[in-house]
Amino acid sequence: MNILLIGAGGREHALAWKMAQSPLCEKLFIAPGNAGTALIGQNVAINVSDFEAVYELIQDENILLVVIGPEQPLVEGLADFLRGVNIAVIGPGKKGAELEGSKEFSKYFMQKHGIATARFQSFSALEIDDAKQYTRTMALPLVIKASGLAAGKGVVIAEDLASADKTIDEMLSGSLFGLAGETIVIEEFLHGIEMSVFILTDGKSYQLLPSAKDYKRIFEGDKGPNTGGMGAVSPVPFANEALMQKIEAHIISPTLSGLAEEEIHYCGFIFFGIMVVKGEPYLLEYNCRMGDPETEVVMPRITSDLVELLWAAENGNLAEKEIKISSQSCTTVMLVAGGYPDVYEKGNVITGVENVEDSLLFYAGVGNKNEDLITQGGRVIAVSSLGENITDALTKSYRNADKVHFSGKFYRKDIGQDLL
Ligand code: AMP
Ligand code: GLY
Repeated sequence: MNILLIGAGGREHALAWKMAQSPLCEKLFIAPGNAGTALIGQNVAINVSDFEAVYELIQDENILLVVIGPEQPLVEGLADFLRGVNIAVIGPGKKGAELEGSKEFSKYFMQKHGIATARFQSFSALEIDDAKQYTRTMALPLVIKASGLAAGKGVVIAEDLASADKTIDEMLSGSLFGLAGETIVIEEFLHGIEMSVFILTDGKSYQLLPSAKDYKRIFEGDKGPNTGGMGAVSPVPFANEALMQKIEAHIISPTLSGLAEEEIHYCGFIFFGIMVVKGEPYLLEYNCRMGDPETEVVMPRITSDLVELLWAAENGNLAEKEIKISSQSCTTVMLVAGGYPDVYEKGNVITGVENVEDSLLFYAGVGNKNEDLITQGGRVIAVSSLGENITDALTKSYRNADKVHFSGKFYRKDIGQDLL
């Protein structure tokens, strides 16, 4: 079958790489794609917010399945539109995407369906005083979140009440995150260790994908501002069977039954952002898509045919399948542009990729200019490696990270160190 993948990041390069290995995949199109996906399939330069343009491409190229990578088109309702014209899609409709698109919705969803999460309350712009009052009832630090999509930057950890007040004012006035901050969620800070859990679901049953840990802060030792992710490791060594059973019983299953109860049909990936506090899993957030850079360590560990699983999800018979996962470890180290996550340079020439051995390069912000590869985003290349264990995989990722060059290149040297 011909498949269309929507997106343009390292996640999509990894998904494209995995899908293209399937004998079921005839032609793969990626819209808009990047220089990495161009090595695997055919990029199509359309604006994916233009649903009619997407539909036209599907008709012209005889596409049978559409896989939506990022949250933005899901929250905009691309999956609903395509289902409305009888196209097979992996990705939730607008309502299901609210699990990520509205933190207010997702927190009340967790509460309603008995899923453990940080104590919270939500506030609108008319409730600034109530919001500040609420912070006086909580221990410090506390967490203030813009309810809407804010490209991973909508969370502020306030260490004192003065900065909490300032954040509340800025978010609710719209000066910090615009409309995304129109409503905020204030919640207690959970002290624990984070991990990412992923499922593919057809709305009834699910397949558990490999779990992963990502490294969000820009600097070593988890210092500095949050980024989209500076590296990832899979599997998560502390995620033993007992913990995974709790996550399945107390978080994943109630989520699926909650969606069914609320009559939200959900076919696609769900990403559970988990905080493990003294051995107990709490749900920090949902994402309605795969993680990035987690996908760059999850896909290499899946040994089953991904397209077969996606097709089964679309057809509602995922329960009949069994996902196979390699016992190897996978690590990825993200090479980023100097200055990221603040202002960074673009257009720098990337060299040395041909010298990489024993790692997979998944391109994120990489474009083509004449014969050259150039940087075109903050996160540039994910260097992913499989190994017998985390140490072995990291050795390969770091050896190859050194072989790729571009002006301003930066990466964290301590990915996975806390797990060894
Ligand atoms: P979110 O977008 O909700 O995942 O938040 C982004 C990051 O902020 C998370 O990955 C955590 O590192 C941190 N965070 C969010 N909520 C909490 C919380 N209640 N307690 C501690 N850290 C949090
Ligand atoms: N790596 C975190 C995310 O994709 O949201």
